[in-house]
Amino acid sequence: MSDRAGSSRKRTALWGGRFERGMAPEMEALNKSLPVDIRLWPQDIAGSRAWARALAGGGVIAEGERDALLAGLDRVASRLAAGEAAAAKDEDVHSLVERLLYEEAGDVAGKLHTGRSRNDQVSTDFRLWGVDAVDRVGEAVRGLCRALHSLASRSVDLIMPAYTHLQRAQPVRAAHWALSHFWPFDRDRRRLAQVRERISVLPLGSGAVAGSPFPIDRDVLRRELGFAALSENSMDAVSDRDWVMELAFVGALAGAHLSRLAEDLVLFGSSEFGFLRLDDRYSTGSSLMPQKRNPDVAELARGKSGRLTGNLVALLTLLKGLPTSYNRDIQEDKELLFDSVDTLLLTLPALAGALETALWNAERVAAGLDDALLATDLADYLVRKGVPFRESHEIVGRLVRRAEEEGRGLSALPDAAFREAHSAFGTDVREVFSWERAVEARAVPGGTARQALMSQLEEAGRRLAAP
Ligand code: ARG
Repeated sequence: MSDRAGSSRKRTALWGGRFERGMAPEMEALNKSLPVDIRLWPQDIAGSRAWARALAGGGVIAEGERDALLAGLDRVASRLAAGEAAAAKDEDVHSLVERLLYEEAGDVAGKLHTGRSRNDQVSTDFRLWGVDAVDRVGEAVRGLCRALHSLASRSVDLIMPAYTHLQRAQPVRAAHWALSHFWPFDRDRRRLAQVRERISVLPLGSGAVAGSPFPIDRDVLRRELGFAALSENSMDAVSDRDWVMELAFVGALAGAHLSRLAEDLVLFGSSEFGFLRLDDRYSTGSSLMPQKRNPDVAELARGKSGRLTGNLVALLTLLKGLPTSYNRDIQEDKELLFDSVDTLLLTLPALAGALETALWNAERVAAGLDDALLATDLADYLVRKGVPFRESHEIVGRLVRRAEEEGRGLSALPDAAFREAHSAFGTDVREVFSWERAVEARAVPGGTARQALMSQLEEAGRRLAAP
């Protein structure tokens, strides 16, 4: 880079007066953030427009100057919207906007940065972007919730094995399984709404670290930019990235939820399970094996969750140990959070589409039900006849072993086998061997009975409609 004291240079860089020599090329490369922060240009224009008005409101610049700045910023926005940034070599988005403003408005451009620093400017831009991002992510999560709800609505009458430790455990309605994935994402939506409150805090007016020395009405600024509150401390305001961590955390947690759902889809779609079939539009083939039908949508979702966790860890590491207030390290925050939001906006709709179009294979699901899933119900049968549960557990355990040794299902044991096991067994024990009865027996709220499930579906529907 050439002479920074030259007059043309003075107008394009935001700083340089105290330097004799330009930056080394490798330093320039490290210093540059434009490729990442260019996406904040609409927010940078909005923040600058509000700042120009605030300066005029405080009598710091004349109304004519304000109007010239506003008109210039409009033209800068048009140029950026038309792709002006593609060839730009500026250090960051703030430098780019200011350089273009000089081109559009002339020397008055030099008045815009009065009482403002890139420290409060970038915090403001990023938060403006964050409020919008949190809403977009929230809508995408809602889309996935809607897909799970609709899959559940189609699966009330299908009874499947529920697993713990990936071992067949007890029968449940397939809708219950689908909704078991709904609630984690519903909690993510609530978390996002809470983070939103903490994003919507205006740092502008904090200057570099100590606040603006000009009579700026920060509350007018706040309203104009649509923030809910004002930051309370300028030193904190320019470096507070708590909301970035929080949003990255919700992203990482949603990623964990996505990857667990994805894992179920991969398993259920395998030849071994064959429970659920993803539509052609969400499946991929193999370049070598013509028979393959791969659940890449789920595998990619599971894989993408890794970077969501990674971004959170990188962000926390970035902040840890920094001295008070703004430090350049913080610039790294944007690339990481942008990646988390991009990843979520890419993954959530694809998985939602896959669920919307997934089809159960009822025969394969039914084949996954074996009598052993009713062992608990058999123990409960004895409990209802007065046998203490610990005892009935032991007795049924022996029956399960016997059935296993004889190579048949529990229900295929003769009446005599039951009578030998305990005198409380009567012929009505046969009634235990009904999937429908087993799921209906669990009528507590949150259970598998039709009534309980319909309430759950309704509540999930209400949550879907809630903001
Ligand atoms: N690109 C910078 C960031 O994102 C803008 C703030 C720069 N401030 C500074 N004092 N160099 O953090």
